[in-house]
Amino acid sequence: MKKKAKVRSMRKARRWQEGLERYRARQQAIVREASDILASDNFCRMRTHIQHGNMTVNEHVLNVARYSLAIAEIFGIPCSRRELIRGALLHDYFLYDWHIPDQEHPHRLHGFFHPGRALKNALTEYDLTEREIDIIKKHMWPLTVIPPMCREAWVVTAADKWCSFMETIRLHKGHGVIRQGA
Ligand SMILES: [Fe+2]
Ligand SMILES: [Fe+2]
Repeated sequence: MKKKAKVRSMRKARRWQEGLERYRARQQAIVREASDILASDNFCRMRTHIQHGNMTVNEHVLNVARYSLAIAEIFGIPCSRRELIRGALLHDYFLYDWHIPDQEHPHRLHGFFHPGRALKNALTEYDLTEREIDIIKKHMWPLTVIPPMCREAWVVTAADKWCSFMETIRLHKGHGVIRQGA
């Protein structure tokens, strides 16, 4: 019995180790392909905006990028990893907290309008490829009516829905808003 339990716990430890290595490899790919986005002021500013639960927009888009890579790997979907990562990181680049309405921006139809705002903001700072534009524009499909036109956009759309669901039911927990000087 003891031997069986030991073998089981060794298997569990190996699986945990492999999972950690996969996580690290995806994180390294994100840093390699998008260091300019990660270091930008606006991307860091997304740490002060909540997306779902206590998850900031910054954490959410990083999760979506990691899950997008995982989906592409697990299902063997041929994708441009660079465009997949950069599109995922910029898919919610709307740069405000949609939970805090003001007179000018009541954010009532945030779900419908934020892909357009994210795209407009991203285009002012980055030279986006057609695929990256498709990812940002269509990630809220079916709300956006016109479906994604490339594999990368389908993958990010699926990853975004999964992450949003897990964050809303608080199975994915964030660290909350990080304020400057706090
Ligand atoms: Fe979104
Ligand atoms: Fe999102």
